Parts: sequence; C-alpha cells; structure tokens
Amino acid sequence: MTARRLLSTIMDCWPLGMWLGVIRLAPNRLRRPLANVFLDAVRYKERSGIAVLRSRALAILGASIGSDVMIKAGVIVEYPERLVIGNRVSIQHRCFLSCYGGLRIGNDVSIAHDVSIVTSSHPLDSPGPIREAPLTDGPVSIGSNVWIGMKVMVLAGVSIGDDAVIGAGSLVRSDIPPNSVAYGLPAVVRKPLYRKA
Ligand SMILES: CC(C)(COP(=O)(O)OP(=O)(O)OC[C@H]1O[C@@H](n2cnc3c(N)ncnc32)[C@H](O)[C@@H]1OP(=O)(O)O)[C@@H](O)C(=O)NCCC(=O)NCCS
Repeated sequence: MTARRLLSTIMDCWPLGMWLGVIRLAPNRLRRPLANVFLDAVRYKERSGIAVLRSRALAILGASIGSDVMIKAGVIVEYPERLVIGNRVSIQHRCFLSCYGGLRIGNDVSIAHDVSIVTSSHPLDSPGPIREAPLTDGPVSIGSNVWIGMKVMVLAGVSIGDDAVIGAGSLVRSDIPPNSVAYGLPAVVRKPLYRKA
C-alpha cells in the first residue's frame, strides 16, 4: 500500500483504526476476543478504508494476510487462523469463507460478491445423523491473478490455477487448470484465457 493510501485510510477511519491499534497492544488472551468484537462491529459498515481495516482485524485473529487486501462488508470468515491471503486481493460483499480445512488465496485475486468457499465436508457413510458426522478437511487453493465471478460456489478439495476466470453462478467441484476460463454447473473449462501482451 502506498504511504498516501495508508494516510487516507487512517484519516478516513481514524476512530476505528485507533481501536484496532489498541487491540494490537492488548494482552494475548484479550487480543482475539477483542478483534472478534471489532469485526462484528464493522461487519455491515462500508466506507473506503474500512475494507482494509477488516483485513487487519482478520490478521489479529490469526489469518496470514498480505498487503492491500480489501474485505468488504458482510464477509464471514470461519477459522481465520487457517486462511492465507497474498497481496492485492479483494473479497466483495457477503462472501462466505469457511476455512476449516485450509484456504490459500494467491496475489491479485478478485472474488466478487456472494461467493461461498467451503473447505470441509461430512462423510456420507458414517452412522448417525449426518450433521453430527466428523468434518473431513478439503483444503482449497486459489492461484494468483484469478477472478471469481459473483455467486460462485467452490467446494472442498479444489485447486484453481493461476490466471483463471470462474464465470458468475458457477459450481466449482473439481480442479480448474491455470490459464483457463471456466463456468457452469459444474464448472468446466470453456476456453483458455487469452490476454493481450
Ligand atoms: C465467464 C465470463 C467472464 C465469460 O465472458 P465471455 O468470454 O465474454 O463470454 P461470452 O459473453 O462471450 O459468452 C460465451 C458463452 O458462454 C456463456 N456464458 C458466459 N458466462 C457464463 C456463465 N457465467 N454461466 C453460464 N454460461 C455462461 C454465454 O451464455 C455464451 O453462450 P452461447 O455461446 O451459447 O451464447 C462472464 O460471462 C462472467 O461470468 N463474468 C463474471 C461477471 C461477474 O461476476 N461480475 C461481478 C463483478 S466483479
């Protein structure tokens, strides 16, 4: 983030930014609960700069977050300590990221609004109610320079390669190779991603 952008972010959200600074200085056992309270307090607010502060609060909760990461209003992150995000990433309104099995997002990734990503599943063959079956991990990996369109669902265990585009409304249930445009239910590769030199 440039110094100018950082300054305007701080000026824009000074009272909230100040609270985040206080939370960083709090003793270890208070830091995480306070960061959660902060995230809840700003979950439905939208103002330029707050999106960056949310990413800083997620970092306090244990996520590994690069620079220039914007998390818009209404985004829900479960198990933030299992989330890794690179640089220059935007996650738009109301996305749901369930990171139980581990979620890695590369650099320069745009995730449009209402995208859901899950990284765990219930095995179908365990006895008793399915909701009580133990969760199985299915880490999800999203490469760099990826654009995920609005209302996409990404299921557990999937990898999306670098330079890929996932069309709006798609269901991604198997790996998407690098340099491809995929969409549909389920998403399949429709064409390579052609880019001007
Ligand atoms: C995937 C996408 C990038 C493809 O763009 P494109 O290459 O210009 O595709 P076209 O518009 O030429 O469509 C080609 C064909 O694919 C179909 N298609 C395109 N996107 C589709 C999608 N998301 N789901 C299903 N079919 C799709 C079109 O209907 C068309 O079919 P046809 O040849 O039978 O008429 C685009 O359609 C898309 O989904 N963009 C995401 C938009 C978005 O989520 N924006 C959020 C704000 S950031």
